[in-house]
Amino acid sequence: MQYDEEIIQTVKDAADIVEIVGETVNLKKNGTNYKGLCPFHSEKTPSFNVNPNRNLFYCFGCGEGGDPLKFVMLSQNLNFVEALKYLAGRYHISLPERDLSPQELEKKRRKDILYDINQQAAAVYHKLLLNDPRALKAREYLVRRGIGDDIVREFELGYAPEGWSFIRQALAGFPETDLLAAGLLTANEKGHTYDRFRDRLLSPIFNHNGRHLAFSGRILGAGEPKYLNSKDSLIFNKSNVLLGLFQNKKAIRAARRCLLVEGNFDILALASHGIRYAAAPMGTALTAVHVRALKGYAEEVIILFDGDTAGIKAAGRAVPIFLSQRLTARVVVLPPEHDPDSFVRKFGAPALEKKLDKAVSLPEFIFNDLEKRYGLSLEGKGRIVEELQPIIRAIADDSLQRTLFISHFSEKLGLRPEQLSERFAATRSLSPPALRKPAVVDSAPFMLSRVEEQLLSFLIIYPNYLDSFLAAGLKDSVSSSGGRHIIEAMVGLAESGAAAEPERLLDFVESPARPFISRKLINAPVLGDEELQTEAEEKINWLRENKLRLEMYGLTERINEAIKNNDNESLMKLLAAKDEMRKKNQQK
Ligand code: UTP
Ligand code: MN
Repeated sequence: MQYDEEIIQTVKDAADIVEIVGETVNLKKNGTNYKGLCPFHSEKTPSFNVNPNRNLFYCFGCGEGGDPLKFVMLSQNLNFVEALKYLAGRYHISLPERDLSPQELEKKRRKDILYDINQQAAAVYHKLLLNDPRALKAREYLVRRGIGDDIVREFELGYAPEGWSFIRQALAGFPETDLLAAGLLTANEKGHTYDRFRDRLLSPIFNHNGRHLAFSGRILGAGEPKYLNSKDSLIFNKSNVLLGLFQNKKAIRAARRCLLVEGNFDILALASHGIRYAAAPMGTALTAVHVRALKGYAEEVIILFDGDTAGIKAAGRAVPIFLSQRLTARVVVLPPEHDPDSFVRKFGAPALEKKLDKAVSLPEFIFNDLEKRYGLSLEGKGRIVEELQPIIRAIADDSLQRTLFISHFSEKLGLRPEQLSERFAATRSLSPPALRKPAVVDSAPFMLSRVEEQLLSFLIIYPNYLDSFLAAGLKDSVSSSGGRHIIEAMVGLAESGAAAEPERLLDFVESPARPFISRKLINAPVLGDEELQTEAEEKINWLRENKLRLEMYGLTERINEAIKNNDNESLMKLLAAKDEMRKKNQQK
């Protein structure tokens, strides 16, 4: 849909750059401007500036800059229209909808009614919880579970009293069919309708913008079901929702990470203890939708699973999702008798946060578990390979993640990658080394010669060869600043002990190199042992030769220089050196 300039400008003008940026960046006043650490590149001293008078941001470090709309696009990874809608919603500016078809308009109208109903119901239930004598035991329940009053208000918790028609009467202004569609009423077989939520503590469920989608109701005593949720509706899909995301998104963005927990009360208890960077699926399996939503806010997800087998199974299923969405995930296992709620209440927030430091990467976690279960005997390995198959198959058609996954686990198992997955076995696609042709392949500002590209793309996938490449004179053949930067990053990766995880290289590089590296990871060929060995040797030999060639070239230059300067003494020495070198070359 095309929006005209006027409405776009209205939205931009309404948006406050300091407020928008301030949600993600810790800003300090600096004269009439504000300063902070740039969210778009990594830096230790602030070069990121916000100018409230001109309603602009600019980073002197990386050159990113623009208006509030641009900031929202970049920081939340939204396109222009999405960002415009986000800001318009936030500053209560209505955007024209003239391009919607009549059906779409009708659907939107229907949805708005359901949002409205859920919102009004939430207000009614909330008020009841705060003040009504009928809600006394719900209030006591919350006190017992350590949920603070501020959290009760912020999360707009409510209480549905006993009785069959409380909410119907409270929302008598709405037709019954709409209340049914919103999921507040249930119809029995005979068509009689009654309140769905009775004598339950209610958490409204919000989308990330704070619209009321549904409710989740917990029983106060024992009984089944423990949680009763609204049925899926036009506006609510249980398996897409992340509890707590709306209330916690600011904190998640600021922490750049998100704790993924299992339940509603985990979110509430953590928030009561000041841990605000958490979210939870609604008791359903984690889906790509969840992970995609988190990706807009966090760089890393720490999964706090119960240590039971169900938790580990869930973690296994989550591996390919995180891999294919390219979001880092780590796992913390709590003592078997605890969930995050009980843990934080018993031991406190600092104890929990200390556990987070020991989080293990998700694939690592899976492997350790399999190893513990089956051992690394031949038979054990067979079992492990079998168990990994569904995960490998589940990694959607994404060669990067499949390659990373297979190469990661095959190395751990001491198997060739093909043994781990016959189906995706070596389709060798490396062209013969076209090393000798110097040509610039990548576009500015990140430029590598073709030689550099060939060498580095190999090393990116097989970082174990770094040392031999360096010894053979890698740095002599890689002279561009981009190439040098990648080498430094690889040294950093090796020093960190994470060389077995090629994808971690992305943690060590600055932004212009990132797309290059990602591309290489995506297109990584799966090589068998022998092929790999041959490939490596070819490249190492070439490096040695090239080093000599370059030295020879340097000598020739100096010889020409000496001739020009009539410097006979140097000339003699240089010629002797060149002779020496030529001999050495011929011996090889
Ligand atoms: P749990 O059974 O682990 O409960 O379900 P919990 O979160 O620890 O609940 P408390 O602490 O006893 O209150 C995990 C999540 O699964 C969903 C809920 O979202 C719950 O928080 N669930 C569970 C349901 O949707 N329905 C149920 O009947 C049970
Ligand atoms: Mn619990």
